[in-house]
Amino acid sequence: MEIIDGKAISEKILEEIRSDLEKRSCETPPCVAFIRVGDDPASVSYVNKKQKVAASLGIESQLHVHPVEITQKELLLEVSRLNADPKIHGILVQAPLPNHIESNVIFNKVDPDKDVDGFNVVNAGRLCQEDEEGFLPCTPAGIVELLSRSGVQTSGKHVVVLGRSLIVGKPAGLLFLRRHALGNATVTICHSRTADLSSVTRTADILIAAIGRPRFVTADMVKEGAVVIDVGINRVEDSSRKSGFRLVGDVDYDAVAPKCAHITPVPGGVGPMTVAMLMSNTVKAQKKALS
Ligand code: GUN
Repeated sequence: MEIIDGKAISEKILEEIRSDLEKRSCETPPCVAFIRVGDDPASVSYVNKKQKVAASLGIESQLHVHPVEITQKELLLEVSRLNADPKIHGILVQAPLPNHIESNVIFNKVDPDKDVDGFNVVNAGRLCQEDEEGFLPCTPAGIVELLSRSGVQTSGKHVVVLGRSLIVGKPAGLLFLRRHALGNATVTICHSRTADLSSVTRTADILIAAIGRPRFVTADMVKEGAVVIDVGINRVEDSSRKSGFRLVGDVDYDAVAPKCAHITPVPGGVGPMTVAMLMSNTVKAQKKALS
């Protein structure tokens, strides 16, 4: 069993981005704007991390924080303002948004050429059409990169994705389907209404867990020799920690790991890859703006 070290692989990618930026020696650095609505502790932590990593690469960032009471109209105006600002190359609206706001309406307002999250309908369509012009959603793109750099082939394999979200499940399925060296898989996407889930997951050569339920995937759901990618970042109570919580994935790691050929840990697996792919998308957005 091999533990896939997402932290180390992401650091290598960040080093490649740093070296690319140094070679280009642009007069102005790339700039990404973050919009955060409310103070959800996980969102605060994710956006902080993204800003810190950006700074370490010399990528500028802005943070625009709004109260949870912000209206959809006001949020749309904020996105329009950032769309029109030529100094800003990338825009990221941190999800989840409050229930009174239709997330897709906000995501679709982001200029497709600044949509470093890849959630806009134009970029979702480009992914469907296998058009390389588009921005790939960061977490699925990070998973593909993680497998590729760990020497895991996808062609002809059965990839089972647990979860059908816009952010991970659906785009991950499309990525693995692509006519591409890192695609060409047979893909099954499972969700909360899937009948006899275990019988499907047990046929997975590569199992992607992205449902947001702590330790949902148990050993009996996994085939011997499978590759397991855990996308979950769930906070569970832990009174022995100063913070009062610790992070666990969607996979019951201790029980599942011994059965796997490869597995990603939480933390230190997919999480840092998401951030690295965001940096890569931000550089791509600046290149688009300059071309
Ligand atoms: N919430 C959880 N993951 C993500 C992500 O990749 N991007 C954004 N914008 N919000 C998220």
